[in-house]
Amino acid sequence: MQGIQKYLEPICSDMKIEVYPTVNSTNIIAREKAANGMPEGYVVFANTQTQGRGRKDRNFFSPCGTGIYMSILFRPVQYSLHEAVKLTTMAAVAVCEAIEEVSGEQAQIKWVNDVYVAGKKVCGILTEASCGLEDGHLEYAVVGIGINVTPPGEDFPNELKNIAGTIFGRAQADGKNRLAAEVLNKSMAYYNMLKDSNYINNYRRRSLVIGKEISIISLKGDKKAVALDVDADCRLVVKYENGMIEKLSSGEISIKIL
Ligand code: BTN
Repeated sequence: MQGIQKYLEPICSDMKIEVYPTVNSTNIIAREKAANGMPEGYVVFANTQTQGRGRKDRNFFSPCGTGIYMSILFRPVQYSLHEAVKLTTMAAVAVCEAIEEVSGEQAQIKWVNDVYVAGKKVCGILTEASCGLEDGHLEYAVVGIGINVTPPGEDFPNELKNIAGTIFGRAQADGKNRLAAEVLNKSMAYYNMLKDSNYINNYRRRSLVIGKEISIISLKGDKKAVALDVDADCRLVVKYENGMIEKLSSGEISIKIL
């Protein structure tokens, strides 16, 4: 991953990039740096993670050399905690565009943070944020992105076999570096116009969920609905079988496409 630099555009020129062979989790490293005052634009990559983290306290399978594991530190000004989801959705669009540019494969998004190619999950995004107690504004947000680039040496573990996929069938010359750099180029471009961009339209266009029947999985149990839209605050607008419409925030639930 040392060769990312040559593919970066000027928009990334102020980024501070670190690359490690092995870390516990790039999100943990980036959060530690953030807590110690690191400015935004810090990025950490690792070749493998021993404690890769996913949503809902799940592990993120992070085998050596076949994936991209990266975390970007942002310090958006005057952002509330609930707006942090915009960084996740922005990154999802950036990853889709990067995948398409580098591989030619079409990429889609399963609300809120999963990127799919050919029906398989190839990328997950985990945003972790810290918020000031006094004003409720974000101090920082770390956007962690894990991409399965090529098949892992020992195949995916059983529980992932039917879900997870990879972008390429086998290693490509400099494929990982190009992809990683494009994710950064596109993420920074979206971030710089986040307040006024209509990137959410690009998110909607790539949605695997809008218009589909889904099952909403929460602590209260499963509920069937149709996904109608993703609103400007990245909430999933759903219509239940009894006709009731609700806007769901990602923190509380998972969804399954039926
Ligand atoms: C998910 O699918 O639930 C989100 C997975 C996010 C994984 C990435 S890999 C890089 C960064 N570091 C982590 O520990 N997690 C994120």
